[in-house]
Order: sequence, then structure tokens, then C-alpha cells
Amino acid sequence: MQFFYNLQLVNKDFTGFISRQVILVQNGLIKWIGPEKDIPLAKNNSKIKKINLKNQKVLPSFIECHTHSIFAGSRAEEFELRNTGTSYLEIAARGGGILSTVTKTRAMNETEMLKISQMRINEFVRQGVSTVEIKSGYGLDTKTEIKMLTVARKLKGPRIVTTFLGAHAKPHEFESFERYLEDIIKNTLPHLKKKKLSNRVDIFIEKNFFEKDIGKKYLKKFQEQGFDITIHANQLSQSGGAELAIELKAKSADHVIQLSDDTIKKFGTSKVVTVLLPAADLYMKCDYPPARKLIDAGATVALATDFNPGTSPTQDLMLVGLLARLKMGMTLSEVFKAYTINAACALGIECEEGSLEVGKKANFICTEFDLTDFFYSAGHVPKHRLFIGGKEIKI
Ligand code: NIG
Ligand code: FE
Repeated sequence: MQFFYNLQLVNKDFTGFISRQVILVQNGLIKWIGPEKDIPLAKNNSKIKKINLKNQKVLPSFIECHTHSIFAGSRAEEFELRNTGTSYLEIAARGGGILSTVTKTRAMNETEMLKISQMRINEFVRQGVSTVEIKSGYGLDTKTEIKMLTVARKLKGPRIVTTFLGAHAKPHEFESFERYLEDIIKNTLPHLKKKKLSNRVDIFIEKNFFEKDIGKKYLKKFQEQGFDITIHANQLSQSGGAELAIELKAKSADHVIQLSDDTIKKFGTSKVVTVLLPAADLYMKCDYPPARKLIDAGATVALATDFNPGTSPTQDLMLVGLLARLKMGMTLSEVFKAYTINAACALGIECEEGSLEVGKKANFICTEFDLTDFFYSAGHVPKHRLFIGGKEIKI
């Protein structure tokens, strides 16, 4: 048992701190949390390890709920093309984009993949992240998709939530999108289940990628097998992905830039989390999602980096939050919620993580800095210590 004392605990709204609080941790979980004067223990209990946090501020650690952290190579040369006028869809149509990363990812062996992926995960941990979601989707064949998810399972440090994104693009070997999805159901899905590599499925519903109707059929098959759904939806056009996410009761609809007012209203009354990815919008030079309208309608909004070599080659959480504040009208308090409890909701782990409450994991950061020092300076996370399950993580 551990006992953290002499700390200032952030309030639920991330607007201030309550001083002289303590957190009692047992087996990595919060057993008790509250004012020092109400400690439910004998002060001289010697079985308890007491840790003085020296009046530092304590907040829940961050949850990074949408990444493509496992990939080979880079797409730096493609960025120059895009920045000088060639569109993402044109590059993809020429066989570049996602498919060029697929070629390199298929060729990379598991050892090398594990090595570079661990370095990327460490970079998230350095920023105070205790849970990282990782999608497959750069294999587009059973062997490589499984290789990616197997590597994800071997990563050390934070909790890793894996998502199967076989439906990221159509590989060259298949003539039609439908045939490719049927092949996944027949040949890849059984391996995912048997090896317990993931219980979440994602699809890129977009013009020139997967259409809503075939996507629906595909997602329902996974749902029947107990998978949670998330969708890359309405990023470049009103593709119908956002509406499909609501219809199928997905955990989240991600990107959601191109939304009608009617769909925004529907998110307001649904449990589907909208995961907004402004770093990708910056790199894509496209519109930012209507965060203000979504929040005002009552929708749950999360934020993430969308780290990937194409549309978002950055792991910078502070940049993401900064863009949300500068470009999407989100308040600092909304950004903190978006990166903690709402991100946990997007991953369906809100009963275990995302806030500091009894029964949840003792995942937190402690710092001398104030809330306003976060999501302020791109590339700079205020100095802090990270605890996962009550244990300090040193990178
Ligand atoms: O979230 N939109 C689809 N997938 C990624 C991009 C992947 C890539 O370009 O490599 C995204 O933006
Ligand atoms: Fe993505």
C-alpha cells in the first residue's frame, strides 16, 4: 500500500486545486482520496509507504486515444508535394500516401518494428501519457496486420489499447473494396480473436476509400463478434461515417470536420465521443472541426495527435491542445477533459482511468506548474513526474 500526501489535487473541472489532499493506493488502484484530516488510517501504520509530494499539484495523466504509432519509413517527401499543391487524394490515387507506408511496413521485421515503436511510445510517456491507443492499418494483409498488433502488445510502459484498422485503404492485390473487406472477415478476423490482439475495429470512411454502405456491413460483422467500433469519419467530405458511428453506437467518431448542423445535434444526444485531431488538420491545411458547436450541443469531445507519417507526423500533445484553444474555441478546462476523462470514454475505459477517483488506476502527474502552463507552448510540457498505477515511471 502507498500513501501520497501533502498534495494539491486538481478539481473535476480543471479550474483549480484543493490543497492538503492525500491518495491511498493499493495494487495500483486508488483506494481512498480526500482531505488529509479525514485519512481512514492510523497515522503510525508502518506497512504503508508514505510519499510526500511536497505540496505539488496533482492531475490525472493524459490518455492519447488515436494514434497510428507503428509504421515504417517517413513521408517527408510527400509533405513537400502536398505543400506545393498536390492533394492528399491525388497522392493516394497515384499509389502514394497510405500505400507507400504499407510497402515499407510489410518489409520491416518485428524486431526493428518493436524498437522504433518503443521509442515513439517513450516519447508519449515523456509527455505524461499513461495510455496510448495504437491502430494497425499499414499492413493491409493478415500477416503484417498481425505483426503490427503483436508488436503493439509487446510495448512497455503505458497501457496500450490496440485497434484493428485493416480497412484503412484497399491494397493493390484486391480489385474491389468489397472483396478486400470480405477477405478480412474470412481470413484476418479469426486470428484477431484467437490471438486476442484487439477488440476494437476502425475503418476509414471517405471518398476514394471505403463507402458508408459496405463499411456498415463490415462493421456489423465485427460487432457481432464483440468488437467495439470507431470510425475515421467526415475528415475530407460528408462521407456518412459520422452518421454511421451514431447509428451503430460506436465508441467514437474521429476527425469529424465536415458535419451538418443536424449531425452535430445528434452527437449532442448520443454517447459517441467525437475525437478531434487538429494537428492533422494543421498538416492537411483543412478546416478544423466544429468543437465549439459540438460541446455546446452536449457532445463529448476528446483530443488526440493522430500521430502517423502522412497527415500528422507529430506526437506533440501540447500542440494539439494549443490548436484546440487557438483554432477551435476550446477552453483550457475543456482541453484537459478532452485529454483525460473524455479520451478514456472514447476508448471505453472510463471506469478504470481518466480521472482520480476511488476504484480507478492511480495514474497521475505531479508538477509545480499551474494549469495555464499546459497546452500553451508547442513542444513543451511543463516539468512533471508521471505515476502509473502508483509507480513512478522514469524515461
Ligand atoms: O487519421 N485518414 C486516415 N488515416 C490517417 C492518415 C494515415 C496516413 O496518411 O498514413 C489519419 O489521418
Ligand atoms: Fe487517424
